[in-house]
Amino acid sequence: MTGACLAEMGHRVRFVGRDTGKLDAIRAGKSPIFEPGLEELLVKNRERIETTTDIADAVHRTDLSFICVGTPPHNDGSSDLSQVETVSHAIGNALDTWHHTVVVKSTVLPGTIEEVIIPILETESGKKAFADFGIASNPEFLKEGTAVQDFFHTDRVVIGTQDPRSKELLESLYSPLQVPVFSTTIRVSEMIKFASNAFLATKISFANEVGNLCKEHGIDSYEVFAGVGLDTRISPSFFRSGLGFGGSCFPKDVGALIAHAKDKGVDTRILSSVIATNDDQPEHMVSLLQKHLPVRDRTIGVLGLAFKPDTDDIRESRAIPLIKSLLNAGARVIVYDPVAMDNFRHLFPDLTYASSPTEVLTADAVLIVTEWKAFETLDYRGKLVIDGRRIRKAREEAAVYEGLCW
Ligand code: UGA
Repeated sequence: MTGACLAEMGHRVRFVGRDTGKLDAIRAGKSPIFEPGLEELLVKNRERIETTTDIADAVHRTDLSFICVGTPPHNDGSSDLSQVETVSHAIGNALDTWHHTVVVKSTVLPGTIEEVIIPILETESGKKAFADFGIASNPEFLKEGTAVQDFFHTDRVVIGTQDPRSKELLESLYSPLQVPVFSTTIRVSEMIKFASNAFLATKISFANEVGNLCKEHGIDSYEVFAGVGLDTRISPSFFRSGLGFGGSCFPKDVGALIAHAKDKGVDTRILSSVIATNDDQPEHMVSLLQKHLPVRDRTIGVLGLAFKPDTDDIRESRAIPLIKSLLNAGARVIVYDPVAMDNFRHLFPDLTYASSPTEVLTADAVLIVTEWKAFETLDYRGKLVIDGRRIRKAREEAAVYEGLCW
């Protein structure tokens, strides 16, 4: 993503990876992931984009290396740094006399660059960080589904480095975007990424907790938060209550921060509750459904499997615990998603995968899990709908309609 956007800004970019299938796709102007606008950038900037599996070759021919590999969670929530370490060894090995700057975009906990990445780079290269090569943290704040738009119109770019040369290089790289650039130390920059995601996740769980209470009062939590959000100290965004957050970032990053704090002997009661509240929302949805329809031996339709619209990503999607709970309660489940069904089949091969959303509407009840735009055009008349994402047309039309927090 970063590479395609930097190419769009006029830079020559070499994509490095192990998966030759993905590299071939990139070279052919095909996006290896579903991300609106990405393919257009790859096609448009083809002459500035090259691909290779050879890290040394890429390091030798460029000024900056962006480390963008994943930091997935271990079972205890802590970050698995193996990909970051492997790449750091290879980059370190390739550092030579040419002054090169290593930029860490991967989400890593405070201290990782100084305690893990720099020692690897120095040992492999025999050189000194900040003197012989540059190093910086430059976390990612893009949202899946709107990543291209977010890159060019971000609220801020964060650059963490104690090295004036790397700072200047990165500041000039991002200056055409004309967005605020926040320059700081490496550790602060690493923490800004985690604190941002943890705060947004907290906002969502807070909206859900208050939203569950609103539901008991028969009031609309969206109206409540429209009023609350007018306070400029609070802001109205990320208050959409409902089924909770999924994806590859919030659950993973909050979990990693909790595990890291435990290591440091710091209590994280708020963050643990953020996860607990999020885990409860799918169960609330099933309870709400059971009030209207005991689900044993009934067919329940699920609209949406992706963790959010405009992506085929199902990592930590709320559809997963929801469907597990429905199956445990003895329901038959029919599902539809515009792009995420292939990914979901690997996890749940035995569900009924509908060929259209209309087919899902023939079920005894319909649960709305992802707010795809297409779900705003369906005919919900006569249906029993439990909505986790607030689809207006379903609210207006369904014979029986329950919003999760409204
Ligand atoms: C999130 C952050 O928003 C990005 O700033 C960050 O760069 C990214 O993680 C990352 O660390 O890479 P992303 O996970 O792609 O982005 O998507 P979001 O739009 O933040 O949504 C995450 C989840 O929260 C979704 O399941 C969404 O449905 C849910 N959500 C979001 C709510 O339930 N309510 C809201 O008000 C907003």
